[in-house]
Amino acid sequence: MKVNKSTILLLTFFFLFISKNIFSQSTKTNEQRVDSVLSLMTQDEKIGQLVQFSGGWDTGAQSTKPKTGSEELIAQGKIGSFLNIIGAQTTKDLQKIAVEKSRMKIPLIFGLDVIHGFRTTFPVPLAEASSWDPALVQKSARMQAIEASSAGIHWTFNPMVDIARDPRWGRIVEGSGEDPFLGSSMSAARVKGYQGNDLSANNTIAACLKHFAGYGGAEGGRDYNTVDFSERTFRDVYLKPFKAGVDAGAATLMASFNEIGGVPSSSNRQLLTNILRDEWKFDGFVVSDWNSIGELIPHGVAKDLKQAGELAINAGLDMDMEASAYTKHLGELIAEGKVSMQTVDESVRRVLRIKFRLGLFDDPYKYCDTEREKNSVLTKEMRDVSHESAQKSIVLLKNENELLPLVKGKKKIAVIGPLGNSTLDPLGPWNQQGDAKQVVSLLQGIKNKLGGDAKIIFEEGCSLSGNEKDRFPKAVEAANQSDIVILAVGESLDMSGEARSRATLDLPGVQQELAEEIYKTGKPIIAVVMNGRPLTITWLNEHVSSILETWFLGVEAGNAIADVLFGDFNPSGKLPVTFPKYVGQVPMYYNHKNSGRPHNPKDNYTSYYFDYSNSPLYPFGYGLSYTKFLYSNLKLSAKKISTSDQLNISVDVKNNGLYDGDEVVQLYVRDLVGSVTRPVKELKGFQKISIKKGETKKVEFTLTNEDLKFYNLDMNFVSEPGMFNVFVGTNSVECLEDEFELTN
Ligand code: BGC
Repeated sequence: MKVNKSTILLLTFFFLFISKNIFSQSTKTNEQRVDSVLSLMTQDEKIGQLVQFSGGWDTGAQSTKPKTGSEELIAQGKIGSFLNIIGAQTTKDLQKIAVEKSRMKIPLIFGLDVIHGFRTTFPVPLAEASSWDPALVQKSARMQAIEASSAGIHWTFNPMVDIARDPRWGRIVEGSGEDPFLGSSMSAARVKGYQGNDLSANNTIAACLKHFAGYGGAEGGRDYNTVDFSERTFRDVYLKPFKAGVDAGAATLMASFNEIGGVPSSSNRQLLTNILRDEWKFDGFVVSDWNSIGELIPHGVAKDLKQAGELAINAGLDMDMEASAYTKHLGELIAEGKVSMQTVDESVRRVLRIKFRLGLFDDPYKYCDTEREKNSVLTKEMRDVSHESAQKSIVLLKNENELLPLVKGKKKIAVIGPLGNSTLDPLGPWNQQGDAKQVVSLLQGIKNKLGGDAKIIFEEGCSLSGNEKDRFPKAVEAANQSDIVILAVGESLDMSGEARSRATLDLPGVQQELAEEIYKTGKPIIAVVMNGRPLTITWLNEHVSSILETWFLGVEAGNAIADVLFGDFNPSGKLPVTFPKYVGQVPMYYNHKNSGRPHNPKDNYTSYYFDYSNSPLYPFGYGLSYTKFLYSNLKLSAKKISTSDQLNISVDVKNNGLYDGDEVVQLYVRDLVGSVTRPVKELKGFQKISIKKGETKKVEFTLTNEDLKFYNLDMNFVSEPGMFNVFVGTNSVECLEDEFELTN
């Protein structure tokens, strides 16, 4: 065929037209783009995408630089991700190597533990869960994402959604407490906050649900310890917040350190593939926990790192954090036929998918704007949200004779205790780039509130965990010179968090003895307790007039506590976790089973402790207000419903006190007879409402068949016909009660 110039031109235009339409971003879906990238990659480049290294020495280290030699590996396409490297410029420099020097130009993804803030520290997650305010928690996560993303971070290893029923476990502070329903709502809120509506925006970051799964069930509350519970409990309780987070669109999950029933999570195919991918249809990727693949060796399921890598990737664990199992052995394992190319491709596809969704292929430097970094941290807006969150995280545990709120300016106040003027501890564990200089201490918060003329004396009295009592006399003297004592006691910031399990739940050191000495002065005492777990503050509860549980509240701690002390904010927090009276009672949680011999004081052979009581110090859902709420008129729309009906439940809540206030109205259900035993109560709904003094509000809930489902005798997720109790009230114990029947 004779081809002339105009035919060539025409063909060229035609080819350009076609190719533009096939390859341009606008016409290709992310999936097609993932496939085209994958089809061009060598085996080594694929393995590289599954490798994550840390910039620091240890987990949680705050490093700005990668380890020596990393640049070379990035240029060879042998690293897909870093953790613990921060800063718009540093991440830009490394990203530049990836997208300019490596053959495939695949951008790196930078992960970090942004647990409750980056530079602006927000209340610890357990505190925020006490707000029972998912919208607020979402807003707080949004702020954290804006700040972290400006410093080059694409991905946070949060939310931690482990159910924790044992306060000895230090990581209880990182989660949302003991309940799957509250935990699920916090999980979804945080995912939405971090990821926003558009993961490809430059101020949203990928979330990571961790630790998948069951990590909070560690025997004896000892971190990293063995977990062993039934599949039913696992699914009905521990997996729920993960499922909620996946449904909210979480981009990634982290496999946990623990085993369950003999199978460590990092080699658990049932968990990482059958449940997560096949049942839940999750299409993001799973990262290991720090060296959790390597830990398959001490767990005793792998003889060496190579076998550990084989078990992990075949189970569905996509990215190896710091074990080097994939980097060192995946190539050999593929060559030996122990790991198929298809398995590797699938893991790489998942990692690339999230990099595409983050928009990193379109603009790898979108998080690397040094100007934005300067202007987006510690802004007024961040501090305001942190302040609001801190106010709403505080739980009023006791308020005898309505000692609180205090009247401003009239009295001489002694602030006593090792946490009274601490600017470090309110940062809490995992505070990332938190800075004590930014923290308002309790003392400073009170001074800010009362202004220059206030008569405030401060005495530490003792250290947080030491045994010396030599400063007791000065503290007692300070109390004697004052009208009122604010006693700030609790834990230091590093007594909870990872590897921070405790065998006792008492106030550490001689703090309790200090409290006893101050009590002897006869002055009214308000205890302000800062801590990362429920403490057995039984003595305080019996002796001091008022108690505020403040957890670790972040940069605005002192201001928020002062707002509550002086009545500028009416406390509305409720406990997301049961407080035991004695450590020997744990694990203690409200949604326990009844047993065949529930405690009956008239019958010795029933389930109880003969030396102490069965009841908690404070139950789940508990928290007081300066006002009083009266519940009445519990109404159910029907006495009988079928599985296709919905039940409407309403209650009147009257603010019968002297202040406007917020109340968390809680709905619980008990399934009285099932094919398997059911908990004595289960939270099925809650609403946080504002009620003006004197006002009554009708609060309405709906229950559907979905809410009544559980894993029955045959492990099917169904509801079963029969009688149900309904409880509506101010906490898990004080409720109005009614019942209904579910028919087929
Ligand atoms: C923790 C994780 C954390 C990781 C990275 C591990 O030790 O268990 O929660 O995300 O380190 O710092």
